[in-house]
Amino acid sequence: MHDTLIDAHHGLAVTAVLFTAFWVLIVLGAPRRPVRLGRLGRPVFTGAMMSTGAAGITGLLLLASGKWLTMAFPWVGVAAVTGYGMAGAHSRRSLRSGQKASAGFAAVVQLLLLAAAFALMEAKPF
Ligand code: HEM
Repeated sequence: MHDTLIDAHHGLAVTAVLFTAFWVLIVLGAPRRPVRLGRLGRPVFTGAMMSTGAAGITGLLLLASGKWLTMAFPWVGVAAVTGYGMAGAHSRRSLRSGQKASAGFAAVVQLLLLAAAFALMEAKPF
């Protein structure tokens, strides 16, 4: 059961990074005027937010199993997922209102938060 949860958490984390990288490309490739998310942007944005949320939920379940409660890195994960949600909402809103630089910055922040969480959780240094 525990191994299945770790596999799910790992798979969701990889999925979230891939969706988010794709989202960054979409935002950076968007024109400098207000745009709707469209047929590609909408599923990619939704996929990125949902897979990150699901990685967070499976992470909390792993934490609830008790083995990692004395370590700090899972709580950094909680902070990363929270920051990701805020940056995600910001990137989508900015894209819709044509503020491309702001949207691009927020999307890159999303990707960096995930990459940092990923590296931290593989290493489990604290
Ligand atoms: C609420 C947020 C999160 C919590 C509480 C959390 C918690 C955990 C815990 C407790 C482990 C250790 C599992 C084990 O080896 O028994 C773990 C592993 C891991 N987490 Fe998270 N996590 C969270 C979010 C994330 C995010 C956002 C990512 C990356 C996008 C991520 C990527 C990983 C990876 C790559 C591992 C290593 C899995 C392995 O050893 O195969 N986690 N996480």
